[in-house]
Amino acid sequence: MKKPAATGKTKPNYGIDAPGVIRNLFLAGLALLAIVIFFPHVKIANVDVDTTGLVWSGGGCCFGGFLMLAYSLYGKYKHRDRMLNMVSWTGNEQVLDIGTGKGLLMIGAAKRLTTGKATGIDIWNAEDLSGNNVESALQNAAIEGVADKVEILNENVMDMSFADNFFDVIVTNMVIHNIYNKPGRKKACEEIVRVLKPGGTALVADFRHMREYENNFKEIEGVKTKLLPANYLTTFPAVSILIVTK
Ligand SMILES: C[S@@+](CC[C@H](N)C(=O)[O-])C[C@H]1O[C@@H](n2cnc3c(N)ncnc32)[C@H](O)[C@@H]1O
Repeated sequence: MKKPAATGKTKPNYGIDAPGVIRNLFLAGLALLAIVIFFPHVKIANVDVDTTGLVWSGGGCCFGGFLMLAYSLYGKYKHRDRMLNMVSWTGNEQVLDIGTGKGLLMIGAAKRLTTGKATGIDIWNAEDLSGNNVESALQNAAIEGVADKVEILNENVMDMSFADNFFDVIVTNMVIHNIYNKPGRKKACEEIVRVLKPGGTALVADFRHMREYENNFKEIEGVKTKLLPANYLTTFPAVSILIVTK
């Protein structure tokens, strides 16, 4: 495992989720509001068009961007704690965080471990999280004092190298929707069950396809699921949590 480079940073930085989407929402919102302010009436081929109604679309885009930003800066920490509080920790678990990004759940889990280890895997998609790379995750682990309890690997959830029945706890937040085809998402669910120990728990959190994931898991013999609703005060878009037991 790589050692983090010394940067002198003292505060962890877990990044902004989907930064391109947030930027586009603000740009579209501001452009629409600018039309309302500067061109409240536009003449198109002798027809007077009143643009003031666009204030709702412009305001809606900006509000959506603001709520997504609020999730990244505040809500995701509450959401992480909600997920990790669902596990009855002993401290010696083997934990896997799939799509760890800058290590949010991996590091949160590592803080609850004594002899256990938290492994984070990712393929480091730049568009999914600002500053998304292995160095940032390692840096955050060092700042949070858990560098010796984590391992970070470059792996795809659809094809993990771990042995069957290896992890006591698996967590994954806002990751599987990034696989843009149904068979790929199904393979991801199958891989999660394969590497989960019998008696172990997987917490799969996402803002879409949750019923599809639930059906994928239910098709596997011996697997039980429970779908919990999103907390609308802390997540945007609303992120539900699927508890999967084997
Ligand atoms: C929105 S970020 C969420 C990061 C982290 N789970 C969190 O909650 O802060 C989604 C992450 O999933 C990763 N990812 C996307 N597809 C993946 C795949 N097939 N296998 C592993 N990681 C993946 C991206 O690189 C990115 O780091």
